[in-house]
Amino acid sequence: MKSRATIIILFLFSLLISCSQEKEHIVIGVSQCSEDSWRQKLKQELIMTTYFNPGVDLIFTSANDDSELQQRQIDSLVNCGIDLLIVSPNQVDLLSSAVDRAYDKGIPVILFDRKIDSEKYTAFMGADNFQIGKMIGHFMATQLNGKGNVLEIGGLKGSSPASERHEGFIAAMEDYPDINIAGFEHGDWTEESGRLAMNKILLHYDGRIDAVFGGNDRMALGARKALQAAGKDSGDIIYAGVDALPDESGGMRLVSDSLLTVSAIYPTHGDELMLLALDIVNGRKFDKEVFMQSSLVTYDNASVLLLQNEEIIRQSNYLRTMHSLTGRMQDAMELQRVIIILVLVFALCISVFLSFYVRAYRQKQSLSEELQAQVEKVERQRDELEEQRDKLIEMSMTGNSDTEDSAESQNKDSGFILKFRNVVESHLDDPDISVDDISSELCMSRAQLYRKVKAVTGKSPVEVIRHMRLSKADRLLAETSLNISEIAYRVGFSSASYFTKCYRDQFNRLPTDVHR
Ligand code: FRU
Repeated sequence: MKSRATIIILFLFSLLISCSQEKEHIVIGVSQCSEDSWRQKLKQELIMTTYFNPGVDLIFTSANDDSELQQRQIDSLVNCGIDLLIVSPNQVDLLSSAVDRAYDKGIPVILFDRKIDSEKYTAFMGADNFQIGKMIGHFMATQLNGKGNVLEIGGLKGSSPASERHEGFIAAMEDYPDINIAGFEHGDWTEESGRLAMNKILLHYDGRIDAVFGGNDRMALGARKALQAAGKDSGDIIYAGVDALPDESGGMRLVSDSLLTVSAIYPTHGDELMLLALDIVNGRKFDKEVFMQSSLVTYDNASVLLLQNEEIIRQSNYLRTMHSLTGRMQDAMELQRVIIILVLVFALCISVFLSFYVRAYRQKQSLSEELQAQVEKVERQRDELEEQRDKLIEMSMTGNSDTEDSAESQNKDSGFILKFRNVVESHLDDPDISVDDISSELCMSRAQLYRKVKAVTGKSPVEVIRHMRLSKADRLLAETSLNISEIAYRVGFSSASYFTKCYRDQFNRLPTDVHR
């Protein structure tokens, strides 16, 4: 039981480790030796694989058949911090040290299509050029019924496919003693170099020509053009090449148009190359040497292969369109994301601002309530103090000289209260009116007013004024449809909440209980 749990834990742990080894962003440097349609095809295939591997960035360089330039390009790719180098070394000797340098810096290296003479590479992927040369040789010998004169234009001197194709071709010819290899010259993979190489051969060979093997299709075509120009193309010479590209001027079409007799497919397979690269970078298992299949294209199968290729092109175009649509959708989604973030930030700012504003407003309200209560308290205390002071003065100066008869004094009192109430009534809606203002309007001192009001009503002027205000408010609440704030304001309260508090103290109910 225990050991099963351990196994499960170990399994999960190894799963975790293997998951975390996947790199999310991978930069792959692709160092191409030349710029031609074979390399373009490979490039497009590699680019297409990034549609399914969005974390992969490709950096392409092309040396235009210049080995020294390719050395420098490899060094600068290494300096860019690439995670893996794919390289087609122009020439074996001249590129080995640059590839070694990359490898020594810990960068995995995939040699693609061409080789170096060092063991410092992580994997090789390409067709078996020796087998290709051999396959062409046997085909040619069969067509020639085992005898005849053959000329060969080899690929760029010092590049591995050139020597391997040549070696394979010679190996095949060893089985046919009656076939004579009457001439050999190197080209540099271009059509023009094929033409020049053939002219060179013709300088010292003037015999019958039965077949020409070009190291690739372009050189085979150049050789054919040279023979035609020299009037030596009998019409039944066998022309063989390598690559069999399906594009407009590629070998597959040349065979279908009978400009070449045979070509060997030299596969690009950029998709497989990318899978190998990802396996290496992500630490998965991979084969060190990967050989891609080749086969011959002749007049019999060329048109079928071209048709199939058209279908592949259609599918690729469809994929490209899908990819650009997805790209546009991603852009639109990104824009929407930015807009949503902006709206959220804006809404957040507004709500922060509002909460500050509400808090400040509430603070102001409660401060003004406190202030109003304080003012009233201070006024009451002042009145009480003044009353006590006056009483003391009266006691000390006049003694108890209350001579007025009570009926007369009662009349006087009610007249005074009426006047007082009238004055207060006329200022009821003024929150700033003070006892001082009222006493001066009644031509009395504040202390006199206080004493008189207190003596007659038993309440201080402030209390009487507040009582009058609240009574009027009570009437307005019952008789009008004004809201509570408006009523509070009309009877001289600047704060509705303070008004509510005073109203409840006086009437033992809330304004809302009587409000219509
Ligand atoms: C393209 C090319 C092909 C040839 C191959 C050899 O650059 O010249 O025509 O088959 O390279 O590496």
